[in-house]
Amino acid sequence: MAALALQILCTVLSAITHFISSVSAQSNAYIIHMDSKAMPKAFSGQQSWYLATLLSISDSPKAYTFSTTKLIHTYTNSIQGFSAILTPSELEALKNSPGFISVTPDGPLKLHTTHTSQFLGLTSSSGAWPASNYGEGVIIGVLDTGVWPESESFKEYEGITDVPSRWKGKCVSGTQFNSSLCNKKLIGAQFFNKGFIANNPDLKITMNSPRDTNGHGTHTSSTAAGRDVNGASYFGYATGTARGAAPRARIAIYKVVWFDGVYKSDLFAAVDQAIQDGVDILSISLGYNLDDRFLDDDTIAIATFAAMKKGIFVAASAGNEGSGWGTLLNGAPWAVIVGAGTIDREFRGILTLGNGMQITFTTLYPGNSSRSQLPLVFMDGCGSVKELKKLKNKIVVCKDNLSISDQVENAKSATVSGAVFITNISLSDFYTKSSFPAAFIGLQDGQNVIKYIKKSSKPTANLEFKKTVLGTKPAPKVDDYSSRGPSQSCPSVLKPDILAPGSFVLASWSPNSSVSEVQSGSLFSKFNIDSGTSMAAPHVAGVVALIKEVHRDWSPAAIRSALMTTANPLDNTQKPIIDVSTNLPATPLDIGAGHINPNKALEPGLVYDTTAEDYIKLLCAMNYTAKQIQVITGSTHSCVNRSIDLNYPSFIAYFNRKGSNSSAKVVQEFKRKVTNVGEQRSVYTAKLTAMAGLKVKVEPERLMFKNKYEKLSYKLTLEGPKLLKEVVVQGSLSWVDDGGKYVVRSPIVATNLVPDSLL
Ligand SMILES: *[C@@H]1O[C@H](CO)[C@@H](O)[C@H](O)[C@H]1NC(C)=O
Ligand SMILES: *[C@@H]1O[C@H](CO)[C@@H](O)[C@H](O)[C@H]1NC(C)=O
Ligand SMILES: *[C@@H]1O[C@H](CO)[C@@H](O)[C@H](O)[C@H]1NC(C)=O
Ligand SMILES: *[C@@H]1O[C@H](CO)[C@@H](O)[C@H](O)[C@H]1NC(C)=O
Ligand SMILES: *[C@@H]1O[C@H](CO)[C@@H](O)[C@H](O)[C@H]1NC(C)=O
Ligand SMILES: *[C@@H]1O[C@H](CO)[C@@H](O)[C@H](O)[C@H]1NC(C)=O
Ligand SMILES: *[C@@H]1O[C@H](CO)[C@@H](O)[C@H](O)[C@H]1NC(C)=O
Ligand SMILES: *[C@@H]1O[C@H](CO)[C@@H](O)[C@H](O)[C@H]1NC(C)=O
Repeated sequence: MAALALQILCTVLSAITHFISSVSAQSNAYIIHMDSKAMPKAFSGQQSWYLATLLSISDSPKAYTFSTTKLIHTYTNSIQGFSAILTPSELEALKNSPGFISVTPDGPLKLHTTHTSQFLGLTSSSGAWPASNYGEGVIIGVLDTGVWPESESFKEYEGITDVPSRWKGKCVSGTQFNSSLCNKKLIGAQFFNKGFIANNPDLKITMNSPRDTNGHGTHTSSTAAGRDVNGASYFGYATGTARGAAPRARIAIYKVVWFDGVYKSDLFAAVDQAIQDGVDILSISLGYNLDDRFLDDDTIAIATFAAMKKGIFVAASAGNEGSGWGTLLNGAPWAVIVGAGTIDREFRGILTLGNGMQITFTTLYPGNSSRSQLPLVFMDGCGSVKELKKLKNKIVVCKDNLSISDQVENAKSATVSGAVFITNISLSDFYTKSSFPAAFIGLQDGQNVIKYIKKSSKPTANLEFKKTVLGTKPAPKVDDYSSRGPSQSCPSVLKPDILAPGSFVLASWSPNSSVSEVQSGSLFSKFNIDSGTSMAAPHVAGVVALIKEVHRDWSPAAIRSALMTTANPLDNTQKPIIDVSTNLPATPLDIGAGHINPNKALEPGLVYDTTAEDYIKLLCAMNYTAKQIQVITGSTHSCVNRSIDLNYPSFIAYFNRKGSNSSAKVVQEFKRKVTNVGEQRSVYTAKLTAMAGLKVKVEPERLMFKNKYEKLSYKLTLEGPKLLKEVVVQGSLSWVDDGGKYVVRSPIVATNLVPDSLL
């Protein structure tokens, strides 16, 4: 999995150390939330007010001019306030300035990868693609490492219409980036690094432009909305036509990642700009730390609340910290949080022994197959580079108690002609993207190879690569690395929301950023195969473009509801989706409502709608203070009404309350309101699945709609012991219409897991 995500994780760690040493001991960067209503009338705008405020608190006001300003960014859309470099005494003085609400230190966030459209059931003959004209009128904003604008995924296609007139964004020039590189497909490209520079005055930015020197942003944006490109492949793997989930949607790039890190101040600035520019959807494959337990500390939650309020749909990656419970990096209740699944495609090689026996294995080795049989030698642990070096033109077989990475390292430095590693570990990209001809095979197959070598007088073998197999079963499975619920920051809302393709996704890449190493050096490619929840979120962003094109007036919550209630909890063998980490059926804490199902999502029958006011009632019920709520929502609210019970298309109940008396009964009640978006006269009946050890009840059991857009309410009750025996008990509630056209399904979770924030 996620070689890229891991690399980014590692480099972020070293970058953080660097950040700590490079920012002077005196001054630090902060994000300051301000009450914009407190601005004195004398000021022409917020920026001049903030500058005056900074001047009034400055330690050295004489030296302080507009050209040496400590102001980093001014925010008016994502949050209300600004970011600035402040000394400790300035910070203290600022806290007493008019309009000050709160302050948070700036800091880096981190980054969390085509056949996938076919796997999602998208075809040009029927369904969501033709119905939505492939998302042509919709604008997707991607916050990432930038874009490689020359990539064919961003070329104008024949018959492309004009850029939607509501678009107010721009394409900026910069290092090796001419604004004329944008077109009617790639309609915007901007970059945000003032926060990065303010925090790291000594680091030199060499690509000061929207250009992507990493590859990640080119991959995610082409996954969401890349046009079709024929003849795509990764060194012969996954050969075919590459295209995004919404091949005609418009793309606007907001580059926020610098040296693999993202500063909060720059992220707020990018979302601020995206809201002003008029994007319809935001795709965010970034996350913060696991321990980010409060929504008012969570940069992505805060920035995306404002977006949601403006009707912008936000798809964010769950994180790559799985497979433990509670490992989500993103859990904002107003964003759609996306987990990563496998698809029905595998990349294989074949090991053919001299006796004709063939063993297949998973590989992404980019080099060519050897044509002839080579001598095969069993070397136990492959522990000695010196011994391995003596074996020219032979394939070595390695198996013992040494760590697999040591064995691979030894074989690599001995430059063997080929190697077979006998191992039972689950393979990550690190191994499958091997730099020399290598086969990783299981213990059983390994026994057969060793037996053959021992019995044969002249054992030989041949390694072939670049076999792509489609239609593999079962698929999807939720992958190991995908972060799992429950959400620490908002436990009462079940997260993640949905599963989308995340493993071994082929998409465009920056041709200057190496995709693999072989013995002769680094390899470059216009396409890369990458894995991570980073790759899953843009699939959802693309599918949402299709829904938005058809249902212009639907709120982000209505679209989320359509995605979730039509998601598929079953795989392509019609059995429950499996969890790779356990090989057992996954739970909604792994996959949310199930795997995204674009064609069905266009016609959900009923939707659970949620307004900004509903989220505020939730924040009130979570006992956030008025100030904290203002930080998140950007405006003041008095908590007259409170409700922890959000009108959401899924349910999570905790049977683990303090002072547990396990024989005591606990009743958990949920109220929901559904809106009829199907035929005007329709009748739905509730279907519940049994939940071990719990009584589940829904009232009423039938919903009779007389009109389109009519809303009807119901109540779901779970009754059970105060403390559940099982960690997770799952079930579902489906509203099925009498005509048999719609099944509106919601997952239910009852759990004894205790999120820290509930303790
Ligand atoms: C950008 O491209 C335009 C059109 O191709 C060209 O006229 C202009 O000189 C270029 N600008 C720079 C700075 O290269
Ligand atoms: C594999 O073979 C192709 C075609 O012969 C050649 O272009 C390519 O460079 C070879 N790849 C490697 C890694 O040697
Ligand atoms: C591997 O096995 C050998 C012999 O059984 C033992 O001496 C050695 O310590 C083991 N190495 C590791 C890394 O466990
Ligand atoms: C692999 O094999 C070892 C030794 O037989 C065992 O301890 C380990 O649990 C196995 N790991 C997996 C992932 O099956
Ligand atoms: C990409 O690499 C080519 C060849 O090394 C070089 O000419 C070009 O300047 C590079 N472009 C960027 C944007 O780094
Ligand atoms: C909020 O505070 C009330 C009153 O103190 C308490 O009953 C409730 O459990 C708290 N809610 C949460 C989510 O902590
Ligand atoms: C609180 O709820 C009541 C009843 O639903 C409603 O009439 C009132 O407007 C709400 N107040 C606020 C401040 O939202
Ligand atoms: C636990 O609850 C049951 C049922 O409410 C009650 O009969 C019992 O006395 C309680 N036990 C304790 C130790 O509180």
